[in-house]
Amino acid sequence: MPSLGGLLKKRRTKDSQTLSKEIGASSSPTTAQTQTSPNATDQQQQQHPSDGHSAATPTTTTTTPNPPTQHPTSDRPNPSSASHPASDGQPVSMQSAVSQSTPSNHPSPGLQQHASNQSNVASIQNIIHSPQPGSSHAGSAAQGGAQPSQQRTESRTTKGKYSLGDFALQRTLGTGSFGRVHLVQSKHNHRFYAIKVLKKAQVVKMKQVEHTNDERRMLNRVRHPFLITLWGTWQDSRNLYMVMDFVEGGELFSLLRKSQRFPNPVAKFYAAEVTLALEYLHSQQIIYRDLKPENLLLDRHGHLKITDFGFAKEVPDITWTLCGTPDYLAPEVVSSKGYNKSVDWWSLGILIFEMLCGFTPFWDSGSPVKIYENILRGRVKYPPYLNQDAVDLLSQLITADLTKRLGNLHGGSEDVKNHPWFAEVTWDRLARKDIDAPYVPPIRGGQGDASQYDRYPEETEAYGVHGDDVHGHLFPDF
Ligand SMILES: Nc1ncnc2c1ncn2[C@@H]1O[C@H](COP(=O)(O)OP(=O)(O)O)[C@@H](O)[C@H]1O
Ligand SMILES: [Mg+2]
Repeated sequence: MPSLGGLLKKRRTKDSQTLSKEIGASSSPTTAQTQTSPNATDQQQQQHPSDGHSAATPTTTTTTPNPPTQHPTSDRPNPSSASHPASDGQPVSMQSAVSQSTPSNHPSPGLQQHASNQSNVASIQNIIHSPQPGSSHAGSAAQGGAQPSQQRTESRTTKGKYSLGDFALQRTLGTGSFGRVHLVQSKHNHRFYAIKVLKKAQVVKMKQVEHTNDERRMLNRVRHPFLITLWGTWQDSRNLYMVMDFVEGGELFSLLRKSQRFPNPVAKFYAAEVTLALEYLHSQQIIYRDLKPENLLLDRHGHLKITDFGFAKEVPDITWTLCGTPDYLAPEVVSSKGYNKSVDWWSLGILIFEMLCGFTPFWDSGSPVKIYENILRGRVKYPPYLNQDAVDLLSQLITADLTKRLGNLHGGSEDVKNHPWFAEVTWDRLARKDIDAPYVPPIRGGQGDASQYDRYPEETEAYGVHGDDVHGHLFPDF
């Protein structure tokens, strides 16, 4: 059994959230920034060279979710006390956050905005009913805003496009095991992006050179509505930099901790979007290996973007590396057997469980070794408030038997999508983002509003310092 080593990431803690979430959010540009190259001039912004997206129209958000009042103090709520269901079995906080959402004005190039506030209500109705005429998401899809991903396979050429001088560095959005992500503003088009900064010495010390090169390579290859867009990378003597779209709505982790747990339809919505992203990645022979709410970001409309390709890897056959996050590890990883895409379907099971319950099934506050023992023992206690279809799906995902694990069988991802728990999901509409998200993040400060992200102590070491570059040759693609 492995011990907690350099290849395993820790879960986030709530401690960082004690810092103020208020920021000096810029309220200047109010046009949607996604799908716009950071060094495109205003004229060039009309259309991105590689994907033909049209520039978005001005947008504001009027969503006013009721801020949840419960703030668990520890990272891992005690399973027995984590859930405070209302009489209908749903957590009060999420219910109110969702039901008080008012319609937001989504950017919808050349199309009407929602006329009714029904469409943003967290309800399975959103998933069942036919598209609203003039739906913004339908509109953007019609304009090429959300094409089924499989149709977009061309890679961006990114090498050498950017440097520190292209951006005004702003606050830290997140820190992870190996990196720090900053909000930045392009000096060229004044739009906002996120830059992940990795210290080369740290990457080398943690033996993450290959993973980091893979992160860049995989991110550069993928194009999907539910995956983060990488615009470019560069390096200086000390650091590696990756420029991504800034996803304004914050981590699903934060929403989940505030809500304690999600109602069945809400968890289903997020799980369905993740399923489509995994299906796409696997079709590209890429395994993701780090599914967890910390790596799932909400865009300004409430749709998911998966970030953090730090463990993503092209694996046509089998791999052995121990990596991931302890309570999300599949038993075949823990027991150092060879594994493949099966591990992502296991993690999807853990994610759905965590969304529905507020804690992961094998969690132990004692040590990772205890978690591994629990994973290998494989006993899952399903709380009585869980929907029966959900339990059935979870028991087929969280199974050590690879000949029984859904997603890993002959039917592949179709088996997951056809499971009764997902019965109401119209997958083609979901892929076009033609289904309204259950929760629209309250982004009021315009573009560059990072209020949905926790505050972190800022980096003290200056970026862009000249000096010896002993590790540069290890990162030839940056
Ligand atoms: N594109 C992005 N937009 C906004 N925030 C981001 C973006 N990418 C990452 N983050 C934030 O930074 C955190 C750490 O980034 P991540 O890539 O997950 O690093 P690590 O590999 O260290 O976990 C994320 O959990 C998220 O909060
Ligand atoms: Mg991460």
